[in-house]
Amino acid sequence: MSAEKSFHMTPEEFRRYGRAVVDWVADYYEKVESFPVLSLVPPGKIRAALPPEPPLQGEAFEMILKDLDRLIIPGITHWQSPNFFAFFPANTSGPSILGELLSAGLGVQGMLWATSPACTELESHVLDWLVDMLALPEKFKFSGTGGGVIQDSASSASLCALLSAREQATNFESNRRGCDGRLVAYASTQTHSSIDKAVNIAGIGRQNLRLIEVDGAFTMRPDRLREQIKQDRQAGLIPCFVCATVGTTSSNAIDPLPEIGNICQEEGLWLHVDGAMAGTAAICPEYRHIHSGLEFADSYCFNPHKWMFTNFDCNCFYVADRAALINTLSVLPEYLRNQATESGAVIDYRDWQIPLGRRFRSLKLWWVIRHYGVEGLRYHIRRHIELAQNFAKWVKDDDRFELAVPPPLNLVCFRHVGGEAINQKLLERLNQSGRLYLTHTKLSDKYTLRFCVGQTNTEAHHVYQAWQEIKKAAAEITPS
Ligand SMILES: Cc1ncc(COP(=O)(O)O)c(C=O)c1O
Repeated sequence: MSAEKSFHMTPEEFRRYGRAVVDWVADYYEKVESFPVLSLVPPGKIRAALPPEPPLQGEAFEMILKDLDRLIIPGITHWQSPNFFAFFPANTSGPSILGELLSAGLGVQGMLWATSPACTELESHVLDWLVDMLALPEKFKFSGTGGGVIQDSASSASLCALLSAREQATNFESNRRGCDGRLVAYASTQTHSSIDKAVNIAGIGRQNLRLIEVDGAFTMRPDRLREQIKQDRQAGLIPCFVCATVGTTSSNAIDPLPEIGNICQEEGLWLHVDGAMAGTAAICPEYRHIHSGLEFADSYCFNPHKWMFTNFDCNCFYVADRAALINTLSVLPEYLRNQATESGAVIDYRDWQIPLGRRFRSLKLWWVIRHYGVEGLRYHIRRHIELAQNFAKWVKDDDRFELAVPPPLNLVCFRHVGGEAINQKLLERLNQSGRLYLTHTKLSDKYTLRFCVGQTNTEAHHVYQAWQEIKKAAAEITPS
């Protein structure tokens, strides 16, 4: 029998090119500081450099790899630069990248327990580990009524929580008949925009999302929440869901979970807690107070893909009552039926998320936890917070600058005292320099600069150098 023609990469080629790609990534990390942190390419430039037609014949891998430097790197904003202080981080690490590679190598699609038992069981196990690592309430573990699942993002987790709340409030009638416009959801004015999106998608309707006023520390005011719920009930509406945040995007504010939780319990509302970035701090016992009151929550999520050295995407989503989530999201067509599912003895994660298919994400998380150990993770989280707090002290001691709020963890919100135009100019000058990247927000309507320390390799000298750059740019903009 003659050998069949094949265009596939042979195992030998894969070995060779695989090593070259790993070398490329290692080299990239060694030289990442030499690139401008924020990509400065004009719109359309990257596309214009790409061939208009796809290749008819396959190309040599050496050429493909070379084009990465030539065509792609100019259009990269270097999230893994230690001089990246923008947004919230999306950090990563060696064990995570290798875990991701292995996940791609196995190419598992873990929609059902039966489609790869290890994919499901490792995920459940690592999510239980994280309950202990962060000292989350025991009810989020599989040994009780709850459990955890890896979602792609906090946005998906919050949507799943909102859908479950919707179904719980309507005895699963909304799934059957659709919404009637009477359900109401609550969040604060500082809540992440993913909740706005979730109420649109879930059919709650934007006009039924109440954004509750915050106090001077930008945390939700429980008294205003209570008043609003009362008003809505009086108007014949059905309050069903509250989202509280541990570490808001603009200022890292931590909503008062005990008070909000009490209200939710009294009123019978689903409480979802979004700890997207700040949640990771609870690995360190001294920061566990951020989760005080979490025992009231029906669901909780945090993103190892922000601050726990696990590359995007990896959001850990927990529910106290897994039946509520599964009953909300489960549909079972004939072609997915199998004995393991029918036995009731297994978790089928397809019922815990919006899509059917799912990747083997727990591998990278498992490798991160095993590589660093809890103590290694604590060390680096503590170090980031310490560096951010040092930066805050420098800001506080300089008359030209002010802190917008005392920084609770690793995000410093500050501004030049000269007003909005100067702060805008300062931000633009710093980001254009390529030497660092930070972003802004508005707090109490005031333009505010955000400096977040969370990239894996950020060290004291990067933060010190950033502060020198900020002072220098400020002096150039406002000569005395
Ligand atoms: C508090 C908070 N929640 C949710 C999100 C959305 O995160 P994701 O990209 O995982 O959907 C963010 C993003 O920064 C956030 O800061």
